[in-house]
Amino acid sequence: MRSSNSLSKIKAENAKISFSYIPVAVFVGGTSGIGRGIAEAFARHTKGNAHIIIVGRNRAAAESIIASFPQPTSPTAKHEFIECDVSLLKNVRQVTSEILNKHAKLNFLVLSAGALDHNRTRLTEDGIDPVTALSYHSRWKLIYDLAPALEKARNDNEDAKVLSVLSAGNGGKIDLSDLELKKASLMTWIQSLMTYNDIMMDGFALHYPSISFIHSFPGAVRTPLGLNSASLWMRTWAFLVNYTPLSYLLMTPENCGEYQLYGIHYTASTPGAWRIGKHGNDIEKQGYHGDDTSRDALWKHTMEVTDSK
Ligand SMILES: NC(=O)c1ccc[n+]([C@@H]2O[C@H](COP(=O)([O-])OP(=O)(O)OC[C@H]3O[C@@H](n4cnc5c(N)ncnc54)[C@H](OP(=O)(O)O)[C@@H]3O)[C@@H](O)[C@H]2O)c1
Repeated sequence: MRSSNSLSKIKAENAKISFSYIPVAVFVGGTSGIGRGIAEAFARHTKGNAHIIIVGRNRAAAESIIASFPQPTSPTAKHEFIECDVSLLKNVRQVTSEILNKHAKLNFLVLSAGALDHNRTRLTEDGIDPVTALSYHSRWKLIYDLAPALEKARNDNEDAKVLSVLSAGNGGKIDLSDLELKKASLMTWIQSLMTYNDIMMDGFALHYPSISFIHSFPGAVRTPLGLNSASLWMRTWAFLVNYTPLSYLLMTPENCGEYQLYGIHYTASTPGAWRIGKHGNDIEKQGYHGDDTSRDALWKHTMEVTDSK
């Protein structure tokens, strides 16, 4: 479907989504903004008949989102929250073990936890700044740890799809001698994280060929992102896009959720690495700066940084 297709058509297509099984879907970052929009669209179109797990820090937000989901008619469907600060790798290990202990199979993993800050000197105990950790390392580790459950779903002929919401199509060249991004300028750092998400998905598609891995650009979406940033500049920007007439230029999280769900369900129709745009459309290799060498170098580097075996 082309990017010009209307929202009403997208919604009508999403309304046809149905599963012959109760899907298990994890939304890391589902307590707000884009992740919330996708989780709500998923709950709406499955009529609540899904096992939905929201992961984040804000319990009150999660409880209110879950309370708004349609009540399931299936006794095996369940909607739950797992509280976790995923900027720390030890917490990611904990949350993935908790999910794997409860679920042998996972059908959808949606990753949208993120923050806005340009100060890269404040590091987590893993030695990584929180924005980099949230945009890349924690996402990589969540996928890596949960991949066996996604593979199990696929082996049983069910969907197995991963979506990372960041900025497909807007990345830049990466520096293989600075994969930790310690020397990168502000713009190189931002664009590298976007390319990291592209080649992260390429790497996973290579290692887990039965699963669909999608990196998306959601468009400019009206969310609280940046309102609590440590950076005054980011807070000012977030205030302007949320509370002035500028906000009308932005997409709502609800509409973004519909487009992204369309992209997951219909556009990424086969296993492999996908890149989708703000209307859930396939953007193919537009603005792509990866190659096999950088994919493999980043994979090896990330295995080491995340202490993955
Ligand atoms: N909005 C846009 O226009 C736009 C455009 C392009 C790309 N993006 C990207 O899309 C992603 C989602 O952004 P958004 O606009 O939806 O932002 P948002 O409304 O602020 O949502 C961010 C989500 O991340 C979660 N989160 C943040 N820090 C966390 C942590 N340490 N541990 C666990 N969860 C954490 C938050 O949950 P808790 O508060 O519950 O922890 C929240 O659910 C970000 O990566 C952003 O860069 C956004």
